[in-house]
Amino acid sequence: MVTSSDRTHARAVVVTGGGTGIGRAAACAFAERGDRVLVVGRSEPTLRETADTHPRILHLVADICEPQGPGTVVDTALERLGGLDVLVNNAATASFADLPGLEHESVQAQVQTNLVAPILLTQKALKALEASGGVVVNVGSAGALGLRSLPGNAVYGATKAALDHLTRTWAVELADRGVRVVGIAPGLIDTGVGVRAGMTREAYDDFLAGMTPRIPSGRVGAPEEIGNWVVRLSEPEASYVNGTVVTIDGGLSVT
Ligand SMILES: NC(=O)c1ccc[n+]([C@@H]2O[C@H](COP(=O)([O-])OP(=O)(O)OC[C@H]3O[C@@H](n4cnc5c(N)ncnc54)[C@H](OP(=O)(O)O)[C@@H]3O)[C@@H](O)[C@H]2O)c1
Repeated sequence: MVTSSDRTHARAVVVTGGGTGIGRAAACAFAERGDRVLVVGRSEPTLRETADTHPRILHLVADICEPQGPGTVVDTALERLGGLDVLVNNAATASFADLPGLEHESVQAQVQTNLVAPILLTQKALKALEASGGVVVNVGSAGALGLRSLPGNAVYGATKAALDHLTRTWAVELADRGVRVVGIAPGLIDTGVGVRAGMTREAYDDFLAGMTPRIPSGRVGAPEEIGNWVVRLSEPEASYVNGTVVTIDGGLSVT
């Protein structure tokens, strides 16, 4: 049963990769709701831009792939937010290459950022999440759902498919501890990620425009259209959603 005090309770939230794109949109939506948010990333200017949008958003410069990274994130959240109610594993990296073109370094970076870091972060956060009856939201990808393939992006897709598996498995493992685990699978979202990965804005726009006819909703998504669902799935009203990966992609994955 959800009470009105549950609904208005201001939570302590960590959003990895909260300096840009979907992470920033989620952080802003949490802050608008009244939650206190710690955004985490490696680049201070973008984190500061997010933090400047709302007084309830704090930032931490940290690399979640460094050995001390996950511990630092959780310790900082406990110290500066006074607890941890919601962990959003959103930070990720992707590089395009087919099998012959794969470079060891980029394989490691993707596996480390998209898979190993969320595992270690969630493990470090578990005690605090257990104390708060908290929620983990894992941000996957609609491109890696079910039996689909992701040519040129196999390693990224494999990390996201594995993250979905963690979502399902942790939901079962952690249910007795009162911790809920959900996933979100975004479709094509204009976050500027292509530009940050080295494309020109024109080339990224061309890529988005080329994909648009394949999307039943007829357009690419906006970061807020994912960020708002991250918040919704973390709320007490969603307490019966557990172990599910929610697809938000304008219908692309059902074509
Ligand atoms: N955009 C899409 O179309 C799309 C589609 C499907 C799924 N997704 C997923 O949605 C999530 C957000 O994507 P986005 O498009 O918003 O991408 P984005 O803007 O590139 O966001 C990724 C964030 O992760 C942070 N990050 C990367 N490596 C990190 C590390 N080692 N330590 C700490 N932070 C790190 C980056 O910040 P720093 O560089 O400052 O560290 C950046 O803010 C990702 O999980 C992505 O896979 C996106």
